[in-house]
Formats: sequence, structure tokens, C-alpha cells
Amino acid sequence: RQPTDSPLYALLTAASDYYRHALKQHPTRKSAVEYLKGRGLTGEIARDFGLGFAPPGWDNLLKHMGGDSLQQKHMIDAGLLIENADTGKRYDRFRDRVMFPIRDSRGRIIAFGGRVLGDDKPKYLNSPETPVFHKGQELYGLFEARKHNRNLDEIMVVEGYMDVIALAQQGLRNAVATLGTATSEEHIRRLFRLVPNILFCFDGDQAGRKAAWRALEATLPGLEDGRRARFLFLPEGEDPDSLVRKEGTDAFRARITQHAQPLADYFFQQLTQEADPTSLEGKAHLATLAAPLIERIPGANLKVLMRQRLAEITGLNGEALGQFARSAAPSV
Ligand code: CTP
Ligand code: MN
Ligand code: MN
Ligand code: MN
Ligand code: MN
Repeated sequence: RQPTDSPLYALLTAASDYYRHALKQHPTRKSAVEYLKGRGLTGEIARDFGLGFAPPGWDNLLKHMGGDSLQQKHMIDAGLLIENADTGKRYDRFRDRVMFPIRDSRGRIIAFGGRVLGDDKPKYLNSPETPVFHKGQELYGLFEARKHNRNLDEIMVVEGYMDVIALAQQGLRNAVATLGTATSEEHIRRLFRLVPNILFCFDGDQAGRKAAWRALEATLPGLEDGRRARFLFLPEGEDPDSLVRKEGTDAFRARITQHAQPLADYFFQQLTQEADPTSLEGKAHLATLAAPLIERIPGANLKVLMRQRLAEITGLNGEALGQFARSAAPSV
């Protein structure tokens, strides 16, 4: 589905080489090096993830790459350069940022994220959609995680670049990030082709909790019997990066063991908060919310078990629930 022979790949790789080199050599690199150290990263992890630095200035990459007009056109297509619509002037998209190369599952660099070195907003700038980068399909860190271990049993899904890298720095090398987009059914299909278990661990804030429910919805159609998804909710204000650095690897692992919530538990906990199961009206509401979602599960056994649980909670008969769900308009 992606053009394997696109000229954009070579340009993205050359840009990544430039950014990596700049992190080691550029006269202005110090702020970036200090920034990464300040976030607890070693040179080894920076190397593993190919981190780089886009120096300050409008045309560092442009000048370095040189190239004719066609190459510059390709660099615009790759999201590396921006062309001013009025003046036609071309300049670097990424300036004065720490650079995170994004690889596809084959390891080819397809895009970048760039972080400001301070608290300026927006803190991240990402490549736009390009012929080789479709944000909603990619998972940052997946290539690196698989490179480290081909036989992963579980993949952890987090929100951000630094969550993936900080976890790897702490020895948890199985995290991937959706990069600020919602977890999609396509993401889940990819992950379940590689591992039987997924652990979602989003930020401990309102956005993170919302992302968790969206992830649950995207996961339901992937739940064949034998596959499992769990959710780890973090204390308010923490994300995997901040928490793993604060409490360390062992405590973080223990937290997963003790507190990761199976999808079905989270499902009923969330829905019984939305619809009060102590009144008949609430039970009826709960059934209308839950039954159509349960029907999306392909795993026959899990589907029956969840219907039974819903029947226990509502007092409705399981058979009736199934019929109701199948006749209800799909709420997708
Ligand atoms: N994101 C983005 N653009 C933004 C903010 C966020 O693309 N302006 C994406 C990035 O991939 C980011 C992820 O959403 O990593 C999660 O956002 P957030 O939690 O706000 O950032 P952190 O990853 O925690 O950033 P950091 O720890 O570097 O401050
Ligand atoms: Mn990938
Ligand atoms: Mn966040
Ligand atoms: Mn963070
Ligand atoms: Mn975060």
C-alpha cells in the first residue's frame, strides 16, 4: 500500500543522518544534549532510537542536502521542507528541536517528530501526512521493540515519544506510541498479528482516560478468544515517562501486575458509572449501552461470558440481550 520505491525514503534517511550527526557535532548542540540528559536518557538509548537535533536556523537541512529543484520538491513532499505559498521560498520544517525519527515496521524512516527544548507551545511538531506516512496507521517504537525482541508476549501502548523511550531506558522495551492520534482498529490488527496481549497505559489525565475508552472500542473487534487487552490507569498528572522515572522499573512492573485491569472489568466499571445499575431505568440504559458493544467481539466464548455478566448486572435474560443487541442499530 506504500510505494516501496518512493524517492522520499532516501531523503528521509539522509535527513535523519544529518540530525543525528548534528546532535554529536553541531556547535549549537549543547542545549539539546543537556535537554536529553535532563530527561534521564543515556547516549545508548539515544542511539537505539536514532535521536537527533535540528539546529536553530531556517535552512540548515536545506543547505546540507543541496540538491536540484526536483529533489527539493521531493523534500517538500516528505515533509522536510516548507514552501511559502506567496514568495515560493523554501525552508526547513524542523528548527531548534530534538528529533525523533519514526520508522515503519520494516525499519524505514517515514517521518519525524520534533520537540522544542523548553516549554514553548506547541511542544511537538510532526511530519504531515505524506505518501509514505499515514499517521493513523503507524506505531512509534514498534520497529525498535521488535528489533530488541522478536518474540514479545505483550506490547504496551502509550501516548508519546518520551513515554516509549523512557520506558526503554528503564528496561521496559515493549512500548509503542500512537503519537497523539486515537488508537485505531488498524493499530489493533497490527498488534494482535504480533502478540496475544496488549496493555494500554495512557496519561493520568482526562485526555488519557478518554483515549483509554477509545482504545477499548477499537480493540473489541480484535478480541478473538485467546487474546487479551488490559488497561493500566496512572495516578493523576503522571504519564509513563514521569512515573517510571519516579518509581523505578521494579515498582512500575509491580504496578502492572497488581493494577492492570482486564478489558472486561474496565468495560463494566466504566458503563456502570454511566448508567446507574441500582435502578431499573439504569439497568435498561446499561443494557442498551453494553449489548451492542459486546456483539462486536469475535471471540465466541468471551462474548458469551460478557453477555452473562451483563445479564447478572441487569437481571435481563442473556438470550433476550443477544436478540436486542442484534436488532439494535449498530452504534459504530
Ligand atoms: N503530541 C503532538 N503535538 C502536540 C502535543 C502532543 O503531536 N502539540 C503528541 C506527541 O506524540 C506526544 C503525544 O501526543 O508525545 C502525547 O502528548 P503529551 O502527553 O502532551 O506529551 P508528552 O509525550 O508527555 O510530552 P513531554 O513528556 O515531552 O512533555
Ligand atoms: Mn511502525
Ligand atoms: Mn497528555
Ligand atoms: Mn510526558
Ligand atoms: Mn504525556
